[in-house]
Amino acid sequence: MRKAIVAGNWKMNKTLDEAIALARSLRDLLDAVHHVDMVVCPPYPTLSGVSEILKGSPIGVGAQNMHWESQGAYTGEVSAKMLLTAGCQYVILGHSERRLHFGETDDGVRKKVVAALKSGLVPIICVGERLDEREAGRTEQVVAKQLRGAVGGLSAEELLRGIIAYEPVWAIGTGRAATPEMANEVHTFLRRLLRELHGEGVASAVRIQYGGSVTEENAASLLRQSDIDGALVGGASLKAESFAAIVRAGSEHTGG
Ligand code: 13P
Repeated sequence: MRKAIVAGNWKMNKTLDEAIALARSLRDLLDAVHHVDMVVCPPYPTLSGVSEILKGSPIGVGAQNMHWESQGAYTGEVSAKMLLTAGCQYVILGHSERRLHFGETDDGVRKKVVAALKSGLVPIICVGERLDEREAGRTEQVVAKQLRGAVGGLSAEELLRGIIAYEPVWAIGTGRAATPEMANEVHTFLRRLLRELHGEGVASAVRIQYGGSVTEENAASLLRQSDIDGALVGGASLKAESFAAIVRAGSEHTGG
């Protein structure tokens, strides 16, 4: 059975003091929760501070992006090694906000995935369709292109170390989550694609998170679906109690 993984993407929220306070609350609330992997992804300047607080706790730390090069003249960018030394174990890659506002392409995401895996970071690889694409009946085509683009050239062993996140763009920050059935349908499709690329062993082991307006109210019903193995949470991860409630729903996950 796949173990659920619940990650909080704090996006561009929380100053250092606020981030440390939130990390402390999460550590206290989640210390005794088992059977679920949990991760927080704070902004870069707070990564070291948050990692320090969460050291020895069951909560992992991730970044929200990185560059594929290891160093050099790339003003404003950070490398995998910098993230590792700031205490990260995970990195979100290809988030739709990066694709939309910062021009990230499938090829760029692929290079980042390769660099993350090489460094030992676990990539959380995001895919998801826009509303116009869903309405045009192109959801599967769009997510297939993104997934193939990001993981097409990886070995089975590499792919097994990554996590996929399905985040329909129209569900992000809108309060309009996909219904559990609607989300599961796409997760099942993505798993079928993984099977085509790398066979049953990989397809049945790789975890696929759902993201897009996940709340403590809808988390359990989403996580009960057969192919949904966790959540990537934005807004609701900014409050300790609501994120903790979603993590607890993950610890009761029985799918997969
Ligand atoms: P919301 O949970 O705020 O919709 O954001 C989802 C998301 O983008 C997580 O990466």
